[in-house]
Amino acid sequence: MAREPLIVGNWKMHCTRAEAQALVAGLTPLILDSPGRGIIVAPPFTALETIARTTMGTPIQLAAQNLHWESKGAFTGEISAAMLRDMGCAAVIIGHSERRQYFGDTDDGVNRKIGAALNHDLQPIVCVGETLEQRQADETNSHIERQLRGGFADLGADEVARCVVAYEPIWAIGTGHTATPAQAQEVHAHIRAVMSTLATADIANGLRILYGGSVKADNIDGLMAQDDVDGALVGGASLQAEQFARIVKFE
Ligand code: PGA
Repeated sequence: MAREPLIVGNWKMHCTRAEAQALVAGLTPLILDSPGRGIIVAPPFTALETIARTTMGTPIQLAAQNLHWESKGAFTGEISAAMLRDMGCAAVIIGHSERRQYFGDTDDGVNRKIGAALNHDLQPIVCVGETLEQRQADETNSHIERQLRGGFADLGADEVARCVVAYEPIWAIGTGHTATPAQAQEVHAHIRAVMSTLATADIANGLRILYGGSVKADNIDGLMAQDDVDGALVGGASLQAEQFARIVKFE
């Protein structure tokens, strides 16, 4: 089954509305001739409405960087799936390692967030990845399997089919130490194998698995050449229009 490549820009806590608008204005003309490539940007919540307006009629879709699993209520500071749909989001990043590391996100929370996103027709982009210590202790595969089994627990196969998985080794995020294409491929193949036990082999085969962690214009081609790498989740390089456009146009 052919999987359409997907490139997601995670802007993290960057960009005022004016900066966000300027970034998209620079990016849009550079990616217009990229048919067959999914393109998503994930600005901070405060720029979502601006970017929804700026990207209207372009191939760029919108994602949020997080959500809360309840649909409304007394949850100060939180944002629900319905609110994100209302902003024009098509997708939402769930369980990013920075959320897990600094804000206490757990596999159980990830599981609830996936459910909430799916209930509101938002595509979950579910992040998993190991620390350097886990890799050195040869615990990468077992750790990722645990994150997948916890995150996707009790979801139906048809629900799993509507998700995207992002493999982001923590040691590669923002460090300039990208995983080698072979390292990425090895883990992506493992993720696909685990996902086939959580859904079906067909569904796992159709699932897009993104790589994230210091993806740049000069390393994207080697990563995308791997059988099980279906796209990228890009942090730092997504803040530069030309870099991000080159990533979208990987060869
Ligand atoms: P990076 O971030 O590309 O800056 O390493 C990736 C991510 O955290 O999604």
